[in-house]
Amino acid sequence: MFVAKASGGAPPPLTGNISWLPNNSDRNTILGTAMQKLAILGGKPVRTKPFSPWPQYTQADVDRIVRVVESRHWGGFPVPSKHAGEFAARFAELHGAKYGLCLANGTIALLAAIQALGLKFGDEIIVPAYTWDGTAIAVLQAGCIPVFADVDPDTYCLDPKAVRAAITPRTRAIMPVHIAMRFADMEALQAIARAHDLLIIEDCAHAHGGRFQGKGAGAAGGAGCFSFQESKLMTAGEGGLVLTNRLDCYEALQSIINCGRPSLTDKFERKVLGANYRMTELQAALLLGQLDALPELCQRRTHHASVLSKALGTLPHLRPLPAQPGLERETLYHYIFQYRPTGTAPSRDLFVAALDAEGIPCDGRFYEPVYRSDLFYVTPENCPQLMLGRDEPIHYSACRCPISERAAYEESVWLPQFLLIGDEADMHDITQAIQKVVSNLGELAKADPKLAGLKACSRALRAKMERVKNY
Ligand SMILES: Cc1ncc(COP(=O)(O)O)c(C=O)c1O
Repeated sequence: MFVAKASGGAPPPLTGNISWLPNNSDRNTILGTAMQKLAILGGKPVRTKPFSPWPQYTQADVDRIVRVVESRHWGGFPVPSKHAGEFAARFAELHGAKYGLCLANGTIALLAAIQALGLKFGDEIIVPAYTWDGTAIAVLQAGCIPVFADVDPDTYCLDPKAVRAAITPRTRAIMPVHIAMRFADMEALQAIARAHDLLIIEDCAHAHGGRFQGKGAGAAGGAGCFSFQESKLMTAGEGGLVLTNRLDCYEALQSIINCGRPSLTDKFERKVLGANYRMTELQAALLLGQLDALPELCQRRTHHASVLSKALGTLPHLRPLPAQPGLERETLYHYIFQYRPTGTAPSRDLFVAALDAEGIPCDGRFYEPVYRSDLFYVTPENCPQLMLGRDEPIHYSACRCPISERAAYEESVWLPQFLLIGDEADMHDITQAIQKVVSNLGELAKADPKLAGLKACSRALRAKMERVKNY
């Protein structure tokens, strides 16, 4: 049983049928709502009730945390500690990987994986331009160089063609990100990696429990890295984990996160300059409960996403992301659809602001192409590897990834995952609100573009003004 801590409460049981898809009388109500004045222009919002609270927890989680507190073993030393070891083993099994190791957070997971796989100062790693800044920043923190490649317009994940074009004699690895609700084409990327002798490090910060092309998330390449930050599909507030099938990598990871101490098995006897990146037992105890809850929540999100895609597919100016062949277990960190209006139309940012004003939390600038992000503060002084063996340092201002830019500034609409863990009445409200905004695009186009407010502002700058948000 989930514990309801805020209005919105615990998710109700899933029902198989979509009872609210419009019949004749519903159609009239929807049409009626659609014709009403937009909330952003002073009308009544479609929804005032909050969605399901996030994170979710159960009484069993509270009891487990109390037991950890009472055990007086709260930290992460020795590695792995009881709960962290148990959680990592279960998480690895779920994804079909041999080894799993918990650590401090998702950024550190990427950094530690890069180091554990033996990448060196100045090595180039190809990353998608459209991702959270942390993907590329971890590469830089590890002394390597992120090389941005564009994404596929139907998945927003790394485009294998763009990866091929980005390969240089210094390329050593590819870092695909399985973003929001889709996977990068791992078969194609693995073929490229084999042909050019490159490593693959998967950024699975959005892909807990997912399975694609016969492999669990994070189990297809050299290493797979997860985040358990508070907005993620499983969370301990903060936290991270690396999956790998390679014992040398697993051993090196244990040393890297544990101040350089030898691993439990130490077959490879590798010496590293480590630090303390351990996960605490309190975090791991929470994650055990999150893992128990994952299958039902995943099923709920998948079901509701298909309901939304069906409904949005009937609306003009919008495009749900096409289904992805090979996706065996879907994982939905955000539900994304595309805003593709024709003719004179309000900006995507204003569309998103109008939808938010109808009571549907959403975002457009969830990510920007990293090379254009205010958080990507990279200079030859703070990242000297950009100068290594070059007359001129790398200038990220010269990057251009048109699909990523279109996604970030014109097209993508992101609905956070907790909107999908409630009931079908929630899907009804979301669809009604979207339909209402779509039906009023003409009015919205005449409105002051400044009404887009924070939705037209980068997330880096918004942080000061959005203290209550955890996604
Ligand atoms: C795609 C991606 N990569 C990496 C990270 C970094 O994870 P963390 O915030 O746990 O450091 C995140 C999380 O925000 C993410 O979304």
